[in-house]
Amino acid sequence: MKILIDSADIKAIEKLYECFPVCGVTTNPSLLSKENKDPYEVLKRIRAFIGEDELHVESLCKRAEDIVDEALAITRILGDDTYVKIPVTAEGVKAIKRLRELGIKTTATAIFTLGQAYISALAGASYVAPYVNRIEMQGEDGTQTALNIQEALRASELECKVLAASFKRIDQVEMLIIKNIDAITLSPAMLSSLLDNDGTKAAIKDFDKAFKTLKRENMSITLDRH
Ligand code: G3P
Repeated sequence: MKILIDSADIKAIEKLYECFPVCGVTTNPSLLSKENKDPYEVLKRIRAFIGEDELHVESLCKRAEDIVDEALAITRILGDDTYVKIPVTAEGVKAIKRLRELGIKTTATAIFTLGQAYISALAGASYVAPYVNRIEMQGEDGTQTALNIQEALRASELECKVLAASFKRIDQVEMLIIKNIDAITLSPAMLSSLLDNDGTKAAIKDFDKAFKTLKRENMSITLDRH
């Protein structure tokens, strides 16, 4: 399973890359707007930092022809390892088909249903991105929708992978880890919270406290640096 970072905050991305086994970055227009800078300068900095890892960048256009033109510009500026995120409208799917013919990789995004995912995959998307928490907010089961999509794609001959997005709780992430989902993208906060546990902190504190009772003269080497 691949883990990507869902952020356009270069400092957060740099920090998370040091610690977490991640293999790319996903962005969207609202994440880029939070940076309050020229979006392409932000994206170029992210690309320079992550090297050839996956970068997912969303198209803002609505008509297929415009999406295709924008996708060509995105990949020209940011390189071939860039996946153009395209929301699953009829025009979006038309653009995915054309971009497949042109050899440009796409991620069909804002997926809420199995039908949307399957059509996008048939059209030639490399990834489909179901929005787990937003599906839940509509009263449906977000994790099950993502798993159903994965099952359908794995049962098919299609090469399209699932890139699950929009998580607000750890249990949503863990349900997909159990089923070995292809890929997930997590906000910096969600990614960090995967390691955050009060039990772990308490255990470390207990061990430190116990170890401090050991007399220094009984130690041949000392490894603690604090
Ligand atoms: O990248 C798109 C997706 O992650 C949206 O997430 O948190 O806005 O529902 P969110």
